[in-house]
Amino acid sequence: MMILHFKEVDSTNEVAKKLAAIGAPEWTIVSSDSQTEGKGRLGRRWISPQGGLWISIVLRPDIEESRLPIIPMVSGISVAKVLCDMYGLPAKLKWPNDVLLKERKVCGILAEAGENVEYVVVGIGINANIDMNKFPAQLRNSTTTISTELKREVDLNALKIGLLDQFKEDYNNLIRQDFSILKEEWRHLSSTLGQKVKVITPKEIIEGNAIDIDGEGALLIEVSGRIKRIFSGDCIHLSNF
Ligand code: BTN
Repeated sequence: MMILHFKEVDSTNEVAKKLAAIGAPEWTIVSSDSQTEGKGRLGRRWISPQGGLWISIVLRPDIEESRLPIIPMVSGISVAKVLCDMYGLPAKLKWPNDVLLKERKVCGILAEAGENVEYVVVGIGINANIDMNKFPAQLRNSTTTISTELKREVDLNALKIGLLDQFKEDYNNLIRQDFSILKEEWRHLSSTLGQKVKVITPKEIIEGNAIDIDGEGALLIEVSGRIKRIFSGDCIHLSNF
């Protein structure tokens, strides 16, 4: 494992993708104190001031393309377990791969694949020691940070090492076996399953009961007695059903 740490970059995912494209080996890690152009899912910006953990991991998975969405989901499991194990925080998962504390987002994950899936870069952003006033007003109700929840700051380096250890173990389990054991963990940590949800996809807006995920990480939603499989989109929790 080689960790490259920067003071400031545009986006750790961008740096990691460039390194991967010129042959950087699996488990090359890029992290930065801050990002000037942090990237979120669905083309969004990701606010990345100093105090957060902004990290990208180069992977070279040998799995079918249809199962790639499972990789960021496994990263979410690892983050949730680390927040719970290291700080006793009751972290939950929102499909596909947000990590929540009391229904507020504390971590987002953006996976990007190179051409022909020669590599996958998993970017993990954890709002660690960040003051809530660093976020724009419209995000404050749906966002939180570790320091806000714990009312103290945490050691970013220890968090980084703890996360990488956990993710390495979970990822190797995924590659060695299959998703079934980790899927159980995802189910167990999930806040989405059992909720009435609204999912906004590029094609449509679906409202129904989130009942499960499948072996490719798709969300199964029951809509008037029929099951719909959703592969990507923005999921909003409405209420428990
Ligand atoms: C999301 O929209 O929820 C995904 C956010 C992912 C943010 C992380 S921070 C490290 C890495 N570099 C980026 O530019 N984005 C990811």
